[in-house]
Amino acid sequence: MNIKEEVIKILEEKRGTHISGADIAKKLEVSRNSIWKTIKTLTSEGYQIEAISNKGYALSNDNDIISSASISKYLDKETIIKEIKVIKSIDSTNDYAKDFAIKEDSQGILIVALEQTKGKGRMGRSFYSPSDSGIYMSLILKPKIQVDKAVMITTIAAVSLVNAIKKVLDKEALIKWVNDIYINDKKVAGILTEASLDFETQTLNYAILGMGVNITTPKAGFPKELENIADSILENKEYSPDTKSRFVAEIINEFDYYYKHIDKSIHMEEYIKKSLLIGKDIFYKKQGEIIKAKVLEVTKDAGLLVEKEDKTTQELNSGEVSLNIFDN
Ligand code: BTN
Repeated sequence: MNIKEEVIKILEEKRGTHISGADIAKKLEVSRNSIWKTIKTLTSEGYQIEAISNKGYALSNDNDIISSASISKYLDKETIIKEIKVIKSIDSTNDYAKDFAIKEDSQGILIVALEQTKGKGRMGRSFYSPSDSGIYMSLILKPKIQVDKAVMITTIAAVSLVNAIKKVLDKEALIKWVNDIYINDKKVAGILTEASLDFETQTLNYAILGMGVNITTPKAGFPKELENIADSILENKEYSPDTKSRFVAEIINEFDYYYKHIDKSIHMEEYIKKSLLIGKDIFYKKQGEIIKAKVLEVTKDAGLLVEKEDKTTQELNSGEVSLNIFDN
């Protein structure tokens, strides 16, 4: 950690109460002058730090800037997380994570961005990632699983998102197979898991779990093409300043629990319970043809069992299905 991060950590731990520059300097074994300079930099970056002579510095309870320290505060003890990098704006957190993922000891690095300029979605699509309204994050994983189990990373993430949305934002969300999170038939979050495969052993070298969540309505609204299919979880900033940090931490806490049991897929019971599509009519493409079918069940292996109009059944294991013939 550099001085800036250390100072944020100290202020974050005592949010709302003052701590003197001298005490911070002593703790970090640096000069008072360097603490003063660091506080100045943080203030210029938008941190709300109150300075009172004879009392010192306090991070305001209204400060809503996400930092590694503000997220760590809410993380369970001993999660997979080994480092959190918070970035204001980046092209894609998944792409950024790839540079670290090739290194041996990188499992547990979490990258959180407040804006993406080239956010990626599945099937080569883009993911709209404007600033100040969403959370965009990527977690580097090195699971010891066969490639055919890799979908479990995505399904664990889906359950974690739904549970964290309920716990922190108090909204009921559902999972649209396989990787989308919906509220009231509109998408509020998406998951993109990218992996590097060891061909010899059919195991994963690494996986990058990317999650994007629309927390509040973007300032400029959603672009026209997304207006009818995307939504935000909250209408506006109807939450306390710390909520985003708590939300990120809760997603990780949930994920960590199920990820530890990935080989047994204990999360699938909840995934099935929270599945939006069961009993619904859907559309999917097979060899260029659009097929209409009814969803019978989501299987324990995260397949989608459907019944076509000719009454034959088919299990879908990849690809994408749509509730609406036109939004595919
Ligand atoms: C989808 O809806 O198709 C998946 C969207 C995944 C978006 C997240 S945001 C963080 C991470 N970085 C990216 O570029 N994409 C994922």
